[in-house]
Amino acid sequence: VTDRMVRVGLLGCGVVGSSVLRLLEAHAEDLLRRAGSRFEVARVAVRDPQRPRDVPQPTRGFTGDPSVLVGDPEIDVVIETMGGIEPARSLLLDALGAGKPVVTANKELLASHGAELFRSAGEHGGSLHFEAAVGGGIPLIRPLTESLAAERVSRFLGIVNGTTNYVLTRMTEDGMSFGDALEDAQRLGYAERDPADDLEGYDAAAKCAILASLAFNTEVRASDVYREGIARVSPEDVAFADRLGYVVKLLAVAELEDGDIAARVHPAMISREHPLAAVRDSFNAVFVHGPSVGELMFYGRGAGGEPTAVAVLGDLVAASRSLDRATAFRSPWYADRRIRPMEAMEAQFYLLLDVVDRPGVLAKIAGAFGDNKVSIKSVWQEGTGEDALIVLITHRANEGALQQTVRDLRAFDVVLEVRSVMRVEDKG
Ligand SMILES: NC(=O)c1ccc[n+]([C@@H]2O[C@H](COP(=O)([O-])OP(=O)(O)OC[C@H]3O[C@@H](n4cnc5c(N)ncnc54)[C@H](OP(=O)(O)O)[C@@H]3O)[C@@H](O)[C@H]2O)c1
Repeated sequence: VTDRMVRVGLLGCGVVGSSVLRLLEAHAEDLLRRAGSRFEVARVAVRDPQRPRDVPQPTRGFTGDPSVLVGDPEIDVVIETMGGIEPARSLLLDALGAGKPVVTANKELLASHGAELFRSAGEHGGSLHFEAAVGGGIPLIRPLTESLAAERVSRFLGIVNGTTNYVLTRMTEDGMSFGDALEDAQRLGYAERDPADDLEGYDAAAKCAILASLAFNTEVRASDVYREGIARVSPEDVAFADRLGYVVKLLAVAELEDGDIAARVHPAMISREHPLAAVRDSFNAVFVHGPSVGELMFYGRGAGGEPTAVAVLGDLVAASRSLDRATAFRSPWYADRRIRPMEAMEAQFYLLLDVVDRPGVLAKIAGAFGDNKVSIKSVWQEGTGEDALIVLITHRANEGALQQTVRDLRAFDVVLEVRSVMRVEDKG
């Protein structure tokens, strides 16, 4: 065991950063054994350096000026747990420009500016580690980039946002409305005061982009991912899903369609038998398919200070190894696949229609599907007096064709309302 000292600069000391400091101290001996290095946190940059913090103190103290930390030649590795695009982006580019390995938990930054970060790491002899950016404490990035280097992932399905999974779990198991379930999540600290980033699927889209970019080795940005949030999921959808043997989840799905990448985040019905259906509350999981390995599932706490800090410190070990190994950093994006626009993607759909209860209505509705080449897998009708509810599940269909079918249905006077359209993931 050597006594090499690796000096760390930490940007941000909030939920994740403070856990990094605590776990680094608590596990110093294990880290020394495993990495062959002692780690010393030299400086920590925060917004307010005066605020008292219940964390192990950095040797050279807290600073309110993060550029001092990044420019310090004595700092070997930079860990970023600040979040946001700027100043995180410029700071990490400066650190990478100086040839330093960087560890980051920042999904937002990676899913929008990953290319320039990877390029800078490659050009200046640094490296970029981001296990904590997706799935908190769940090891996902290293399995996808290293353990599965000899596999060609064909598809993954993930539950990558704990807040929305908690809300949907309460709606499913306790029959709560969306609003009540959200209030419950906020009370328990699972949802932020302004939960839009989670509920509208932005957080999941950033994570989906990062995972898709690693699975398919091509840059995928958050803005390339089709996105729909869960605000429109109704207790009625949840109840119908249950009757049909499904559970509603906010899924991040990415797959290769004719060699192109199709990536999307939206509420979907998934079979109750599928392993992802058992992922409850604020847990996360990603289910991966590959032709050689078959099916894999990664499950765990997708957020929280300690789980995420464990991932950060695993990356710190990798970063410290890269200091004395002259292996060039390789960008995981070496393929050049196209990204499918949403209208060209394919999925299975559930539709709930409120229709006039009259002979011939079903035939007319079926006609709209047929005209748009959307084939119906199953259909149920329930009378409610004057009108009836029709529930349809389609076979896999082109998204654009389905949207046209919905427009056609809305124009029929016998269709009182298209109450709901939701994707169904039956393929596993
Ligand atoms: N929380 C999680 O469960 C989780 C899970 C996975 C990934 N992440 C990612 O980890 C990152 C950090 O999340 P968090 O929850 O730990 O955030 P947080 O609690 O808000 O902490 C942010 C920290 O960064 C500091 N900071 C922010 N802007 C700064 C600036 N301009 N200059 C200097 N310091 C600045 C803050 O300083 P002050 O303390 O002085 O305010 C604070 O210490 C984000 O990218 C997030 O997406 C978080």
